[in-house]
Amino acid sequence: MAVRRIPAGNWLVASLAATVGLLLLGAMIEGAMAEGQKLIALPAPTAKGDVSVEEVLQRRRSVRDYSDGPLSLAEISQLLWAAQGITDGQGHRTAPSAGALYPLELFLVAGNVNGVADGVYHYQVDRHGLAAKASNDVRAALAKAAFKQDWIESAAAIVVIAAAYERTAGKYGKRAHRYVDMEAGHAAQNLFLQAEALGLGSVVVGAFDDDQVAVAVDLPPGTIPLILMPIGRK
Ligand SMILES: Cc1cc2nc3c(=O)[nH]c(=O)nc-3n(C[C@H](O)[C@H](O)[C@H](O)COP(=O)(O)O)c2cc1C
Repeated sequence: MAVRRIPAGNWLVASLAATVGLLLLGAMIEGAMAEGQKLIALPAPTAKGDVSVEEVLQRRRSVRDYSDGPLSLAEISQLLWAAQGITDGQGHRTAPSAGALYPLELFLVAGNVNGVADGVYHYQVDRHGLAAKASNDVRAALAKAAFKQDWIESAAAIVVIAAAYERTAGKYGKRAHRYVDMEAGHAAQNLFLQAEALGLGSVVVGAFDDDQVAVAVDLPPGTIPLILMPIGRK
């Protein structure tokens, strides 16, 4: 059998490419492990509450003044679950999603949450936990990105609802924009009603500079911020 000789220069290029590839893979795995290691497990959410859906629909109002009281980890767990939590064995969630493609990503900006250091966290839907992304209080930066809406800075926490549009565009093309924006609304209303059921105040904030929010929260490339929801005690 004839063996093709590969010029030494090509070997060098090939081995360099392989080394770079391995290093990149290593960095990706390390990044994933680092995120995994810092996972804060959230308490299991409850499907029982003290008030009816009708009562929270009647009571819900935008709240922009919050007292200084902290939120608990159980409250954060319940709020994130209400927005995007998994509710069956097939991975379906609390909010509907076109084609069950789930383009939304939730980020928690914590500033006054018991048991959670100030910082930015990515909600890990599958594990119902928080993966640490940054360990500084970014509430002021987020308020600035939202044209100085003070209630963002004074909230105990802010949930940033962001989306990876291409996840839905692969199937639905141009219509994906419409679908993904609808989904953000569904998630926001779920979170809002849950906040009301817990006696907490929130507001939907849509006025902000996308790029500044992306920097403040360190959003992954291709992930667009859609809604900020400050949450605090009334
Ligand atoms: C898409 C959208 C964007 C909004 N953006 C802001 C905002 O940037 N800042 C704010 O304080 N409220 C914002 N709001 C809240 C509205 O001002 C509020 O829902 C409206 O005044 C009705 O009051 P209610 O929510 O108490 O019923 C927004 C609401 C929606 C639905």
